[in-house]
Amino acid sequence: MSQEPWHRRVLEHRAGLFAVLTTITITIGGLVEIVPMYTIPTDPHATEATLYTPLEQAGRDIYVREGCYNCHSQMVRPMRAETVRYGAWTRAWEYQWDRPFQLGSRRIGPDLQRVGGKYPDAWHWEHLRAPRSTSPGSIMPAYGWLAEDEIDPADVAASVRALATLGHPYADTSEAGVGAQLEAQGGEIVKRLASAKIAASPLSEAVALTAYLQRLGLDGRAALETP
Ligand code: HEC
Repeated sequence: MSQEPWHRRVLEHRAGLFAVLTTITITIGGLVEIVPMYTIPTDPHATEATLYTPLEQAGRDIYVREGCYNCHSQMVRPMRAETVRYGAWTRAWEYQWDRPFQLGSRRIGPDLQRVGGKYPDAWHWEHLRAPRSTSPGSIMPAYGWLAEDEIDPADVAASVRALATLGHPYADTSEAGVGAQLEAQGGEIVKRLASAKIAASPLSEAVALTAYLQRLGLDGRAALETP
């Protein structure tokens, strides 16, 4: 009769004991990971994370709706190849007002965490309309409808109010207040587009998405780039 290995006799055949020992082992593993986390001081720059304006939030909702995260991550990893290509690696606090965060796990396109300010607004407008017009050979799909379709201030106000109930400190969540902010920020982008001979409405979805993309990774950037 073949002799069973000791661990089968002593441990694996005793379900109760085995469960207890497994629990103890996992608890130790958990503590080793979790306890040091509480000793890390809060990053002094964490206060530099700014709320998304209503227009940027509307753009963010479009980003999620269109599934941009299926091809784009928003996390620069702390590795040289990444920081040389994209810029400062991403800190946890940068996601403070991201609900839900858009880290993403696939990079069919480049990481977008530091894309804010990289291109003019007109570039984004053209790129969304026809990606190959700005990036020859691009496999990114065209999002032509974003230039035609408009955001609804009532929807955006509802979205901002939902975030406010979760603790995002928006000062004015009324439809009128949100509407005025949308027009004001959208109007600035429309002016910049007009100087590139592009006619756009301040409420067009492409304008909202551009507002969002243009602010990605700007919070505390100077501090992040000089560690
Ligand atoms: C099928 C994959 C795919 C999807 C979906 C996709 N992209 Fe892209 N994206 C790419 C690829 C590939 C590139 C690189 C070539 C180029 O510039 O078009 C890119 C480039 C970009 C860039 C320029 C990045 C840089 O640093 O040069 C931006 C901005 C961008 N995409 C935004 C978006 C947005 C916003 C959406 C959703 C509306 C989206 N993408 C959806 C694949 C995708």
